[in-house]
Amino acid sequence: MSEYDVIIVGSGAAGLTAAIALADHCRVLVLAKGELTGGSTAWAQGGIAAVLDAGDTFENHIEDTMVAGGGLNRRETVEFVVENAPASIERLVEMGVPFNKDAEALHLTREGGHSHRRIVHVDDATGWAVQAALLKTAEAHPNITLLPGQACIDLITGRHELRYSGSGRVWGVYALDEATGQVHAHVGRATILASGGAGRVYQFSTAPRGATGDGIAMAWRAGCRVSNMEMMQFHPTCLYNLDVKNFLITEAVRGEGGILKHPVTGHRYMPDYDVRAELAPRDVVARANDDQIKRSGLDYVHLDISHLDPDFVAGHFPNIYDKLLTLGIDMTKQPIPVVPAQHYTCGGILIDLAGRTDLPGLYAAGECTESGLHGANRLASNSLLECFVFGEAAAKDIVARWDQLEPPPPIRPWDESRVTDSDEEVIIKQNWTEIRRFMWNYVGIVRTTKRLERAQHRINMMTHEVEDYYGHFRVTTDLIELRNLLQCADLIVKSALHRKESRGLHYTLDYPEMLAQAVDTVLVP
Ligand code: FAD
Ligand code: SIN
Repeated sequence: MSEYDVIIVGSGAAGLTAAIALADHCRVLVLAKGELTGGSTAWAQGGIAAVLDAGDTFENHIEDTMVAGGGLNRRETVEFVVENAPASIERLVEMGVPFNKDAEALHLTREGGHSHRRIVHVDDATGWAVQAALLKTAEAHPNITLLPGQACIDLITGRHELRYSGSGRVWGVYALDEATGQVHAHVGRATILASGGAGRVYQFSTAPRGATGDGIAMAWRAGCRVSNMEMMQFHPTCLYNLDVKNFLITEAVRGEGGILKHPVTGHRYMPDYDVRAELAPRDVVARANDDQIKRSGLDYVHLDISHLDPDFVAGHFPNIYDKLLTLGIDMTKQPIPVVPAQHYTCGGILIDLAGRTDLPGLYAAGECTESGLHGANRLASNSLLECFVFGEAAAKDIVARWDQLEPPPPIRPWDESRVTDSDEEVIIKQNWTEIRRFMWNYVGIVRTTKRLERAQHRINMMTHEVEDYYGHFRVTTDLIELRNLLQCADLIVKSALHRKESRGLHYTLDYPEMLAQAVDTVLVP
């Protein structure tokens, strides 16, 4: 067992922001599955939204966020995040993030749903620069211990105290050391889940391999409410390539003038769907692309920016340009084949403005949460921002309450007395593939009640099988992830069945209208 003051699950933007904000006050342990750079943060392309232009206002950013979110956002959260954005960017600049500049000011690019240019970026690889700066800062702090290769299994609560209390108080996590196969308890006065989204529940996703909703599933099992899980965001423009399956083509390509075309007729179709054309919010553009593909039996649509100056295109999107060249596509001369793919988990663990969950001692921040910022659809480049604002908010609350956060009691070690090594790993692969396929086909961009019920039926059957397997065999990362993927699939489908309307990212042919009142889908364990 290891004991620190605060345990953080996740080394992406949310986890490291919280760790850095806490480290002058207490000793922090940051746990990560696989490598420290394995989350979505490192993959972010477009940038971070903040009101920094003289012609822009907080009110504009708030309004754009609420419009994209289909009115389901909590206004106080939107105000809180938008108003804290400039300070978050300033801290990143201080940490050395080399944002692009236009003379002395930061260069601002544009993305769908934003009425102004307000996205700061580092070329087209913002996330990598942010991840590197946060890691460098965290590594340099003597109070932060970074421990990669730890797959957290479950939260430690009053049920795991040596003198059983059964309370919901959270004391840390049990984690599998991926190198040794041993499970250890890591305990502290407070725990922060910053474990990212659940994108890999879908067959096609822009998210990294580890985005299996572990934190959401752990929090749910421990007793936290989760909210709006039906609001899964699909990005309209993921590269279509049979070998490279999840390479994003940033929305900034459309922001800078890229247009979507039918690959056979060359027709620019977005104005037929929305007056904002290619710069409509993501749900609108993703549905239009899906519609074009299904209507004409296509494999992909075209995203074309070749009408702009080649030096501008290659200079503005250097990483995408280079990557596409290796695949034989010159984006300065020809269109890029693209398809929609799952991109962001808008729903998650319900938190308040201080990042507090329903359980004492447990906080959460970033993509694993539902803070009220995104509502029914996330506005582009608002998510890294949410990680910085809520990572900081959770840290501040922990410091402010330090005297009330009692030290952890003795905890029972992980019990492996009734399990053996698996001789049927095929079950994991089979179930993993099956979940991702039926979620894509039945719980995707356009839904129906019948398809959702089919998905629910399969989930019910698989849950029995996976729990049986989990009860008999020693845990592996694949098994931990499968159990969590299935749990998240269940939460998504239950939430989708619950919503009897179409709003934002939840579009169902059985209830195509939007109801007058926006109500969150809150599931209670
Ligand atoms: P992540 O960065 O995903 O980190 C999760 C961490 O949790 C990782 O360290 C992981 O190892 C750890 N973890 C997970 N499960 C476990 C477990 N069981 N045990 C231990 N550790 C665990 N947003 C923007 O605002 N702007 C953009 O331009 C942008 N571009 C994007 C491009 C792509 C391709 C993708 C996929 C997303 C993009 N997003 C963008 C979204 C944004 O990157 C994410 O929402 C954000 O980075 C999430 O940060 P996070 O800290 O919450 O989680
Ligand atoms: C992108 O660059 O298109 C992704 C931006 C985001 O997800 O916010």
